[in-house]
Amino acid sequence: MFDSLASARLQDLHLFNDQASGLNAIIAIHNTTLGPALGGCRCLPYSSSDAAISDAMALARGMSYKAALAGLPQGGGKAVIMLPPGQVDRGALFQAFGDCVEQLGGRYITAVDSGTELKDLDEVASRTSHVVGTGQDGFDPSPMTARGVLAAIRSAANHCLDRDNLEGLHVAIQGLGHVGSNLAAMLAEAGARLTVTDTDPKRCADIARQFDATVVDSKAIYQTDCDVFSPCALGQVLDPDTIEALQCSVVAGAANNQLADDSCGERLRQRDIFYAPDYLVNAGGLIRLVLSRAGQIDQVEARVDAIADVLAEIICLSRQDQLPSNEVADRMAEERIYG
Ligand code: NAI
Repeated sequence: MFDSLASARLQDLHLFNDQASGLNAIIAIHNTTLGPALGGCRCLPYSSSDAAISDAMALARGMSYKAALAGLPQGGGKAVIMLPPGQVDRGALFQAFGDCVEQLGGRYITAVDSGTELKDLDEVASRTSHVVGTGQDGFDPSPMTARGVLAAIRSAANHCLDRDNLEGLHVAIQGLGHVGSNLAAMLAEAGARLTVTDTDPKRCADIARQFDATVVDSKAIYQTDCDVFSPCALGQVLDPDTIEALQCSVVAGAANNQLADDSCGERLRQRDIFYAPDYLVNAGGLIRLVLSRAGQIDQVEARVDAIADVLAEIICLSRQDQLPSNEVADRMAEERIYG
């Protein structure tokens, strides 16, 4: 276990068990050099505690890198609650989780993530102040996440496709949920042409009607002949097969962990497709969370739009050093974290 902590450069790992509520939770703190570790709390069924621990560790590292590249005074952490089978008293579960967060004295700040809802965070907030984005805030990060994706697409269009606006740019969006639907609206307003897909046909029909988008099925999205492919549904969508199928010049989307593994970044580079690193592109919601907590809400939009500048630097370094963009982004983040 200590070897895997060392190889992930994880500072600490906390395991909690509360018999009364049935809580089994993990809090992984990757690094607090730049500030307290912030990251969402997942509440999902896991096949084993090892699987839950690995998930928490990988996600905590991702949060450190995301905060560092976004220039935020924040470290990276993540919590995982192993959802118990059967009937669950969610109120008791999340109150007990709030006690765990409180015990860490502010080294870890929690937020919403897969399988948790804002009302769960209200329960957490009844036990600790180290929580952001509760139901009482009424805060939805998705519009700011979409704004960050738009900023990344503008930057990539400018530096990779030599375009100074999005008029007529063809973007293929995979996933029309909270982020994808907001992004579709923003792109349409900027004059882009859209091809879209979602496993929910109603979402496709709505976007097609509102923005004159072309709808394709879930597999065909990869082969769409377009300028930008924007994954906004699931992780791990860029694997050797899908990369071979892509007919775009740029990949820029909101989904977390888009590369099936790190070598896929080099595969994209070999195909002359620029990959905008996911944890930079999707940092808009995090920027909103952190700055609103710091009372700097007036700076949010400018800081989200600045994702474009960091991406321009990555494009430049990737060309100059002949390196895949994911490697360049990791290096930049590590320089900020470790000096
Ligand atoms: P969501 O759950 O609202 O939307 C996901 C959409 O993808 C749904 O409409 C779903 O039907 C669709 N989908 C699922 N499987 C699909 C497939 N195989 N092909 C096409 N469509 C499929 O999620 P949300 O909030 O829009 O987030 C999208 C992605 O961005 C997720 O990976 C999330 O982790 C990531 N992300 C979201 C942030 C946010 O602010 N919401 C912040 C950072 C990352």
